[in-house]
Amino acid sequence: MKPIEIAPKIYWVGAVDWNIRDFHGYSTKAGTTYNAYLIVDKTVALIDTVKAPFADEMLERISHVIDPKKIDILISNHTEMDHSGGIPKIMHFIGQDKPLYCSKMGKKNLSMHFGDKYNFHAVEDGETLSLGSRSLTFLETKMLHWPDSMFSYCPEDKILFSSDAFGQHYAGPQRFDDEIGEAIMPHAKTYFANILLLYTPLIEKLLARVTQMGLEFSMILPDHGIMWRQDPGKIVAAYARWSRQEPKNKAVVAYDTMWNSTRIMAESIAEGLGQAGVHALPMHLRANDRSEVITQVMDAGLVVVGSPTLNNGLFPTVSDFLTYMKGLKPKNKIGAAFGSYGWSGEAPKILSSQLDEMGFDQPEAPLKVLYVPGPEAKKQCFEWGEKLGKILVDRLK
Ligand code: FEO
Repeated sequence: MKPIEIAPKIYWVGAVDWNIRDFHGYSTKAGTTYNAYLIVDKTVALIDTVKAPFADEMLERISHVIDPKKIDILISNHTEMDHSGGIPKIMHFIGQDKPLYCSKMGKKNLSMHFGDKYNFHAVEDGETLSLGSRSLTFLETKMLHWPDSMFSYCPEDKILFSSDAFGQHYAGPQRFDDEIGEAIMPHAKTYFANILLLYTPLIEKLLARVTQMGLEFSMILPDHGIMWRQDPGKIVAAYARWSRQEPKNKAVVAYDTMWNSTRIMAESIAEGLGQAGVHALPMHLRANDRSEVITQVMDAGLVVVGSPTLNNGLFPTVSDFLTYMKGLKPKNKIGAAFGSYGWSGEAPKILSSQLDEMGFDQPEAPLKVLYVPGPEAKKQCFEWGEKLGKILVDRLK
């Protein structure tokens, strides 16, 4: 794939990772891209690089536009290695003494990744760098999603180079929002749920700051996936909406099962939830990976978690999911715990205490069923689900 001219003398020179399926535990069924941008001006600037194995491919792409040795400065918006992994090769190629612009935390973090051998220029928040006919203003976006993260904004073209923000793990033939349309939004939502959910208070502050500064965007160019050139406001509005974490009339019933008893419970509970008018999704944790489940959790009003008792504790996949969910800090949820057991039956209580730690309100006591649910136990599960559903419906009124 050749470079793509996004605006006069601004080029996409990144790489497409078609077959990555696991991005540090986030299932990337559609692959991803590592977007890097070349601005050819009096000063030639490269914004971000790519994951290390794709560095040669990026250099080759750049060479369609300009001799890569003519790059004057490298700007690193973010230290995570899917964007910085190519730095050593790029710096070696363009010259180790060329300035490497980054945030103050970027300087610290890049040094810890690659040593302090580079000619770092740590920028101030709001600092502007002239490239000739264009300029770049750097905006610190600390903890969105690393301490080093920053945006680079070109006021002349109203283009935001937004690092991870507004990205999606998506590799396809399209590069722009107008080429893919609405089909990109589920990928953007999954990305938000898995990468940014825990930072929603900071996102709300950032969006308020952007509004206060009066920044306008003709394009938003993230470091992953589709670039927003037709309607950048759409993804900004979606971020504002997702950040509010408004609960919907939806319940996720996340569970695992040993001999189907907890599955039978989950499905009876989901039926009861449906009876109360709630859209219920029973999600087996070995059939749905954690990144899919957390995406559904993001706007659910109710999260019901089920586990059989295994060796006096939780089933391992349920522990995995709870660890993942805890880290992502979903808000404004009702929670509930259930599970089948044979003799000791600790799992529902453990689940309930973990949901408590996560700040989930639990209006109903945990439900447990001994061995295989018969007609009575199924009825009990149905009614428990219906009761929870009615509580959710009432709270959403
Ligand atoms: Fe795409 Fe935080 O790296």
